[in-house]
Amino acid sequence: MNAAITFRHTSVLLTEAIDALVTTPDGVYLDGTFGRGGHARALLARLSAHGRVVAIDRDPQAVAAARSGEDAIDDVRFSIHHTSFAHVMALMVELGLDQVQGLLLDLGVSSPQIDDPARGFSFRFDGPLDMRMDTSRGESAADFLARADERQIVEVIRDHGEERFAVQVAKALVARRESGRPVLTTGQLSEVVAGAVKTREAGQDPATRTFQALRIFVNAELEELEQGLKASLQLLAPGGRLVVISFHSLEDRIVKRFIARESRNEIDRRAPFAPERPLRLRSLGRTKPTQAELQANPRARSAVMRVAERTTAGEGK
Ligand SMILES: C[S@@+](CC[C@H](N)C(=O)[O-])C[C@H]1O[C@@H](n2cnc3c(N)ncnc32)[C@H](O)[C@@H]1O
Repeated sequence: MNAAITFRHTSVLLTEAIDALVTTPDGVYLDGTFGRGGHARALLARLSAHGRVVAIDRDPQAVAAARSGEDAIDDVRFSIHHTSFAHVMALMVELGLDQVQGLLLDLGVSSPQIDDPARGFSFRFDGPLDMRMDTSRGESAADFLARADERQIVEVIRDHGEERFAVQVAKALVARRESGRPVLTTGQLSEVVAGAVKTREAGQDPATRTFQALRIFVNAELEELEQGLKASLQLLAPGGRLVVISFHSLEDRIVKRFIARESRNEIDRRAPFAPERPLRLRSLGRTKPTQAELQANPRARSAVMRVAERTTAGEGK
């Protein structure tokens, strides 16, 4: 991180998320995406002296920010842990916690991640092509582009970026690599994509979709989300709330289908007399940012918040 600059994050749907999450001020709440703690702080402000916030983030810088410096949270009701959605059940065991009253997932990247050129998330700044949220492990975007074959690159850019020119982008990346000039920086990636993507969408940089695709892939974001949602069924006490804020349609589709599957009984035409499945969630709908929020924070543009409540069905499964 650039030590001289403090990168700030403006929390999206802040009041709406906390209103939806808190059912009792004495409960234990899990913030699955600490970021810079905007939601965690608002949550603590809403809880009583008996309430508790357990926060996680897979980014070591986010965890460090929670522990010291301007964004640190010094509150006996708060703890921060370096882990990801996929490992949250192990953390619960470690902490001796059975259930929580609410789980918040404010997905995607934080402004400190996007705005720091050294993290390699943005085409707006030149920096090493890293894109890992968890910089302590895994493969960077540059490492992936150095080893993947053309077909794998096409799949990632098409499936995670919904890029029409995925084949052209992949071909250009492989051609550049084969000429002895692998893509190592965000600037180089933007340049290659700009040469391969022929039509520019209104208001969108040609590199937007390719950057989104690589970021989702490098961080296994969709798989992590599936794991986090699955864990919520085990984690949440009856009456507890699941609140998920998504920033693109691939994420929102997963959340929407998950809540629908757990809250609606659809008749299976092949087995119309099969016993009904127990419904483990009750959908409480979706919310989008107000015009006022969008004006104040353009990064809230694509946000969608979905809320569901855990029922008593199939507890502990
Ligand atoms: C949009 S920011 C959260 C901002 C936060 N709510 C706030 O108000 O400051 C998303 C954060 O979630 C973290 N994150 C994303 N996916 C994660 C995962 N699978 N497990 C743990 N943390 C994750 C990112 O590293 C990032 O810091």
